[in-house]
Amino acid sequence: MTKKPTATSSRRTFIAGAAATAGLAAASSFVPAKFAIGAKAPIKVGILLPYSGTYAMLGNSITNAMKLRIETAGGMLGGRPVEYVAIDSEMSVPKAPTNTNKLVSKEKVDFLVGPVHSGIAQAMAKIVGGTKGPIMVVPNAGSNLVTGPLCSPNIFRTSFSNWQPSYPGGKVMADDGHKTAVTITWKYAAGKQMMAAGKDNFEKNGGKVIKVIEVPFPDVEFQAHLSEIASLKPDAVFSFFSGGGAIKFVKDYAAAGLKDNIALYGPGFLTEGVSGAQGAAAEGIKTTLHYSTDLDNAANRKFREDYVKAYGAKPGPNVFAVQGYDTGSLLLQAATAVGGDISATSDVIAAMETATFADSPRGFWKMSKAHNPIQDIYLRVVKGGEHHTLGVASKALEDPATGCRMMS
Ligand code: BEZ
Repeated sequence: MTKKPTATSSRRTFIAGAAATAGLAAASSFVPAKFAIGAKAPIKVGILLPYSGTYAMLGNSITNAMKLRIETAGGMLGGRPVEYVAIDSEMSVPKAPTNTNKLVSKEKVDFLVGPVHSGIAQAMAKIVGGTKGPIMVVPNAGSNLVTGPLCSPNIFRTSFSNWQPSYPGGKVMADDGHKTAVTITWKYAAGKQMMAAGKDNFEKNGGKVIKVIEVPFPDVEFQAHLSEIASLKPDAVFSFFSGGGAIKFVKDYAAAGLKDNIALYGPGFLTEGVSGAQGAAAEGIKTTLHYSTDLDNAANRKFREDYVKAYGAKPGPNVFAVQGYDTGSLLLQAATAVGGDISATSDVIAAMETATFADSPRGFWKMSKAHNPIQDIYLRVVKGGEHHTLGVASKALEDPATGCRMMS
């Protein structure tokens, strides 16, 4: 059976044809090759995000906002229509290579957007990094390795490294006068890296982590661990959970009677996008993150208004949506810079490296040499179900990107 060419493969065929007739094109001062490259063929955006399970809200928020950003700019990338091809990652690391290869080799996507989960990000980066294949844009997963030892010219991140929102949180706990803490998280790359960063800065500022608790991902059986915390009596608990797991953990923490006795902190994922569902159990929890609901800038107000208009107020706009929105901005800027000719890979990469995010809902940020955001980290508190900004916990924080060859 003859395989019907996809929009992208027909574009590539056209490129080969254009090269073969280059002499003729030059002699007759024909349409410049750049515009002849299937100007109307869609740019293919492959998406590997979770649409089921504990991180489904995260995947949907990212996808919604990325599409919203591109739609509000006219729905085209560099003058070409956009075709989205989305796969549910199911948060499965074992399935990550097959899913990635489907998008890269079968669908031949121009951009690969994903994932949410750090373990999947590492698997994807190993396949895509350093190839001539698609340019990967990570709209959430914080694995330090992806912009560290696995960094690559064709991998960008619009979210954070796991170190970034957690490191300032350690100092916040110490500044609040706490001397001892327990960390509790899921046992995988994101949890381990976030807890290590918080512990490091807590201990640099005079605190001591007396116990590290790790729960298999994505389990939500917390009772035995909460009993252990009660018996250890630390001054504070530092924790990473997100999505459905964060709802359950914060509610169980309060139900176990710990909320009024042992202050709960963490990177902002603990309450982000879920504070409404957590209800009274989330009130007063302080977290650190690169976004806060009430940031007083015009871009944030417009983003929140547009998002609610398009997708409703539940769960409403959140940091995951902001990351998707900025992913849309990055794709728009890159495609515009090359007039839609995504095959001009080094020009696309150069445009992404110098892209500006002055109009991001999170406030100004820019790409580091390792292709990770240099951004402010805010201290927030939940009040009345919303996040309120208490201040900037760390200004223009750049990930150390240890092991990234692009840093030198
Ligand atoms: C991660 O796996 O990197 C991650 C997942 C959810 C929220 C934040 C980070």
